[in-house]
Amino acid sequence: MNKVIPHTAAAVLIAGLGLTAAGVAHAQSMKSFGPQWTDKGELVLPSGYHEWIFLGAPLTPHALNDGKAGFPEYHNVYVQPEAFRAYKSTGQWPEGTIMLKELQLTLEGRASDGSRVEPSGRGYFPGARNGIDISVKDSKRFKDTRGWGFFNFGHNAPPYVRTAAAAPKDACAGCHMQNATADMVFSRFYAPILEAR
Ligand code: HEC
Repeated sequence: MNKVIPHTAAAVLIAGLGLTAAGVAHAQSMKSFGPQWTDKGELVLPSGYHEWIFLGAPLTPHALNDGKAGFPEYHNVYVQPEAFRAYKSTGQWPEGTIMLKELQLTLEGRASDGSRVEPSGRGYFPGARNGIDISVKDSKRFKDTRGWGFFNFGHNAPPYVRTAAAAPKDACAGCHMQNATADMVFSRFYAPILEAR
């Protein structure tokens, strides 16, 4: 009986991901796909996300926003390899997808627009890590916000808080509902990676 439960769990996971037979062996060996929740229903900050798939890094520096950018950092966006693979084969984000956006300051500028000159040229270069925002696809838990929950783990240098409660709709989901794809992700900014063959 003990062995039945993990196999059932794996089968559900595999069905949910729409994996091919080739992906099954890999899926069985992975244990960390999807979100972890506390007893209170808070999201646990995932570990190891720097080893996930890197989708892109939108950048909204102060110099281009009258010195008042809400998020002057690079917005480095990561997704777990399992969700990435499922998206590439189905065009849909699977249940349990975690989109993780880590903010990363630019290195201190030497010019008034915040840029600096490095051997590669004049521009912006990655500096300190400075916060994390996460969205999670769970259609049951977050049915009021099109199946996605939103979480802020701080807008500050690490260490980040370990768990976070879902943010109110007005704080996050509302803007994604209005401006992102029907599936709540700003996929257009990640298209070069998502659609690469
Ligand atoms: C005013 C609109 C707006 C609000 C409010 C907002 N976002 Fe976003 N979010 C965006 C845009 C635009 C992007 C993609 C480009 C970027 O990062 O600038 C994005 C990207 C993301 C991403 C990366 C995946 C994706 O969908 O592209 C996550 C994760 C995310 N936001 C979480 C949050 C969380 C958590 C909150 C609330 C604390 C929040 N967002 C509030 C506009 C918004």
